[in-house]
Amino acid sequence: MTLHIGDTAPDFEIDSTQGTIRLHDWIGDSWCFFFSHPADFTPVCTTEMGRTAQLAKEFEARNTKSLGLSTDTAEEHVKWIEDVNDTQHTTLEFPIVADADLKVAKLYEMIHPDESATAAVRSVYIIDPDKKIRLMMTYPMSVGRNFDEILRVIDALQTSDAHGVATPADWRQGDKVIIPPTVSNEDAEKKFPQGFEELRSYLRYTQVG
Ligand code: BEZ
Repeated sequence: MTLHIGDTAPDFEIDSTQGTIRLHDWIGDSWCFFFSHPADFTPVCTTEMGRTAQLAKEFEARNTKSLGLSTDTAEEHVKWIEDVNDTQHTTLEFPIVADADLKVAKLYEMIHPDESATAAVRSVYIIDPDKKIRLMMTYPMSVGRNFDEILRVIDALQTSDAHGVATPADWRQGDKVIIPPTVSNEDAEKKFPQGFEELRSYLRYTQVG
């Protein structure tokens, strides 16, 4: 199965550091940052787990639950979390899926054989409260993810949903947004009474929020 943006995120039930998780029930009315790791007790993964824990309040402010996955057991994850907390000076409170048999990694196409046949690459799935996949990113094992970008794309998706707009390159919360070309100028005037700037007929900026 190939996963696409807009697909319903495949549901699963699996053991985690916080007991059994059924994905859709666990997400509930929140957004979800679901991210995979090759293995416990590895350096890059340790920094990424720590960074996610450090950013807990930022994720909470975006109504987003973090869910890690690593291809080891829950017992190993629990021991690893002690190292994460110790070395990254944080307290990791989100669950980590125990995917030692690669059930979820295969379901979510996290196994890229040229990287490893037995360990997940660094995948990111942003899943919305309707359980739709809204964004996918894939990093190789050697490159740690940029967590500013992860928060930024959640902001962009939520702004897009709230206002029916798109976001330009390098957009950040508070910057001007783009009126999609499918919205006529007549409709844009009604929808954005604050006004808009028309650089081209297809490139119109406005301010929201
Ligand atoms: C790491 O997390 O440092 C790592 C894990 C697997 C392969 C390469 C790096």
